[in-house]
Amino acid sequence: MSTIWDTETGRQIRPLSGDVKCDAVVVGGGLCGVLTAYKLKCAGLHTVLLEAKRIGGGQSAGTTAKITLCHDEMLSHIENSFGTDSALAYAECEMFSIDEYERIVKEENIQCSFKRLPAYLYSLYGERRLMREFDTARRCSLDCEITRETELPFEVALALKFDRQAQFDPINFMKGILHGFEIYENTRALYIDGNKVVCDGGSVFAKHVVVATNYPFEREIRNLFPVKLHREMAHVCTFGGYMALEGMYIGTDGGYNYRSFGSDLIVSGESHVSGKGNGGAYERIRKSTLSHFRGTTVGQSWSAEDCKSLDGIPYVGQIGTPKGKVYVATGFGTWGMTTSMTAANLVCDLICGRKNACEKLYSPSRLKMNSSADSLTDSVQRAVEGVVLSRFKETKETSDIPKDFGMIVRYKGKKSAVYKDKNGELHVSEAYCPHMRCQLSWNDDDKTWDCPCHGSRFDFDGNLISGPSEKSI
Ligand SMILES: Cc1cc2nc3c(=O)[nH]c(=O)nc-3n(C[C@H](O)[C@H](O)[C@H](O)COP(=O)(O)OP(=O)(O)OC[C@H]3O[C@@H](n4cnc5c(N)ncnc54)[C@H](O)[C@@H]3O)c2cc1C
Ligand code: FES
Repeated sequence: MSTIWDTETGRQIRPLSGDVKCDAVVVGGGLCGVLTAYKLKCAGLHTVLLEAKRIGGGQSAGTTAKITLCHDEMLSHIENSFGTDSALAYAECEMFSIDEYERIVKEENIQCSFKRLPAYLYSLYGERRLMREFDTARRCSLDCEITRETELPFEVALALKFDRQAQFDPINFMKGILHGFEIYENTRALYIDGNKVVCDGGSVFAKHVVVATNYPFEREIRNLFPVKLHREMAHVCTFGGYMALEGMYIGTDGGYNYRSFGSDLIVSGESHVSGKGNGGAYERIRKSTLSHFRGTTVGQSWSAEDCKSLDGIPYVGQIGTPKGKVYVATGFGTWGMTTSMTAANLVCDLICGRKNACEKLYSPSRLKMNSSADSLTDSVQRAVEGVVLSRFKETKETSDIPKDFGMIVRYKGKKSAVYKDKNGELHVSEAYCPHMRCQLSWNDDDKTWDCPCHGSRFDFDGNLISGPSEKSI
């Protein structure tokens, strides 16, 4: 995935070779894992970070890096489902996380374009839901005001302005805190056995094991998650030649999200459950942006995914497995910049025996049915569709497949995922995801095979792009 952020660390970090002992091992070198390792080493723990590929090369490379607590209408959702105290805890932890970014950037002298600026939650069509969010924000003592005036080149029905939010370059930030702990790249953790994390080249023995792999990777752990987590995909396009926006903008009812990075405008949106896109996402973003932001020029485009929990709130904390206990941090629901910091603080507090205001709200073992029931039904439906119902999108003849397109082909009772390239050549793979055997869907925006169950992605030849599957098709 090539994005606007430069993921080259400029360092050759070696893979694990042999056994290592430490206080804490963190598996997964995305923003969440790197921050957690950094926090643990700052707390005085001898810490090891394991990354399957390259640090910062996972979903964090595809982010738009707005550091904010404007997570759609999250505050009112939490207040409605868990009460005002929980909304207060969320607001407190997220605002603390934004301040923590600023503190670390200053202390470590990191050149990552960190900038304080307001975030606007805007609605194109109605006021009611945003007014509810405003009421909760005020009850949480947040600096929030109602406005209809924004610098966006189109009218909004209503916007909420939240002060003291921030934006940055996430990869340069990560590079700035990669010190003081042991790092192994190209080191995939294969399984966890009590206090031992086993990899190809050796094992790490640690008092505390933290799994920050976006989708929890290990069999015993992931067995708890297939119905509690799904993956959401969002699409991003950049545009050159627009004056820098003074704020970040987050659309609530289908409107796109906007922020600046130098003279580039970063526009994101068109999100959907992975494997359920209808195609045309980049074209729609480009068409809309070019018509509103006159004079801009088309730049890069990419998509990325994030895990979403049943009730939309991340799962961060300790869980039991048959062989011991581990800490997990997942379910950031496309808001894992601020929330990765919150997760790192929480995991570090739990390990160090300190209190944390978000412990209960983020607990991975919570299950409040009234806020999760609809998502649970959706999750089961996705699994059923993934395994059974998608036959309605199949064909029997490869001649039905247009050029530069993929379809599931059923031939003599066997299904294959078939991509017909621009020259008419066929690229044939198995139709099922190696993770838990859901049937794959064609993603025509990115020309990939995506899994509707938990978001594994494969290129048109079936090579693994991202898990939870650990294998190519
Ligand atoms: C399009 C888009 C825009 C977004 N914009 C924003 C935004 O503006 N603000 C915001 O707050 N959030 C945003 N997000 C969400 C945010 O980017 C994510 O929540 C965050 O990057 C997730 O970080 P992570 O560390 O959990 O995952 P990752 O970055 O994916 O890191 C996980 C790492 O674990 C490694 N790994 C996996 N399995 C193993 C294994 N077995 N052994 C070792 N390593 C392993 C992977 O290689 C990977 O590097 C956005 C998300 C998307 C999709
Ligand atoms: S079945 Fe889980 S990602 Fe495909």
